[in-house]
Amino acid sequence: MMADQYAVFGNPIAHSKSPWIHSEFAKVCGDAVDYKVLEAEPNPEAFIAAVEQFMKAGANGANVTMPFKEVAWSMSDHLTYRAKLAGAVNTLTFTADGKIFGDNTDGVGLVNDLTVNMKVKLRDKRILILGAGGAVKGVLQLLLEQEPTVVHVVNRTVQKAEELAETFNEFGAISAGSYDGLPKQGVFDVIINATPANFSGELPPVSPEIFAASSLAYDMSYAAEPTLFEKWCTENGASKVSNGLGMLVEQAAESFFIWRDRRPATKTVLTDLKKLLGA
Ligand code: ATR
Repeated sequence: MMADQYAVFGNPIAHSKSPWIHSEFAKVCGDAVDYKVLEAEPNPEAFIAAVEQFMKAGANGANVTMPFKEVAWSMSDHLTYRAKLAGAVNTLTFTADGKIFGDNTDGVGLVNDLTVNMKVKLRDKRILILGAGGAVKGVLQLLLEQEPTVVHVVNRTVQKAEELAETFNEFGAISAGSYDGLPKQGVFDVIINATPANFSGELPPVSPEIFAASSLAYDMSYAAEPTLFEKWCTENGASKVSNGLGMLVEQAAESFFIWRDRRPATKTVLTDLKKLLGA
C-alpha cells in the first residue's frame, strides 16, 4: 500500500526540518508516511496551483509556512475556530471529496513547549510579548486560555498591538502598549520575542532591566545556536532562556495528531533534533 502523502509548502523551504520531524513521528507510531518539501513561487496563485496539484496526486495533507499561511487560510473550505482567529493556517487536511480543512497549530506548539517541555506554569503569570505580527496572532488565543494574569503586547506600530488586544480580549486579560511605555524594572514572568530583529543583528528596543530574577525569556524564532536575543537575555539576568525549536516540534506533533489521530511522543525527537543541528 502507498504511504500517506504529506508535504510542507514554503519559500524558501529547502532547509525545513519538518520532513525529518514527521518521519521521526511516523517511526515512533509505526506509520507509513511520505513527507516532502514543496517550494512554490512566492505568490498566492502559484501556491494555490501547487496545493491543488498535490491534492490531485492523492495527498492527505500539508503544512504551510512562510509566506503562504494567509493564502492557505483563504483557500480553506473549513477553518477551526483557532485558525479563524489566527488569520493564518499552517495545517491543511484534504478530504476524500476534495475539500480543505485549515487549522493552526502554532499556539498549541508554543504552549506545549512552555508548559510541558519547559515545565513553566502560565496560570497567574504576567506575560510580555514583543511584536504584534502574524506569529503573535497565531498564539494569543492559546496563551490566554492558560489563564495568565495578563498578556501585554508591545509593538513598534502600537495600533497593531491594540487591534490584537481588541480581537482577543474575549479569551482573557490582554493589554497593548508601546516599547516606551514599558515599566523600567522587571515585572514580567515570561517574555516572548516575536520580532525578527534577531536576524538583522538587532535587539528589540526594551531596557535590559525588564528581566526579573525569575523571568523566562523565549524567542519564537529558532536556530541551532542560541539566538542574539537569547544571549542578551541570559546576560541580563533571565533565569531561563529558550528559542522556538521546541515549538517547531510541538506544532508538528499537533499537525500529526490532526491528520492521523495519534499524538507522537516528542521528547526524544526534540533531543535528537538538537543533536542533528549541532546545538
Ligand atoms: P511574523 O509573521 O513573523 O510575526 P510579521 O507579521 O511581518 O512577521 O511581524 C513582524 C513583527 O516584528 C511586527 O510586530 C514588527 O513590528 P511592526 O508591526 O511595527 O512593523 C516587528 N518588527 C520587525 N522588525 C523590527 C525591529 N527591527 N524592531 C522591532 N520590531 C520589529
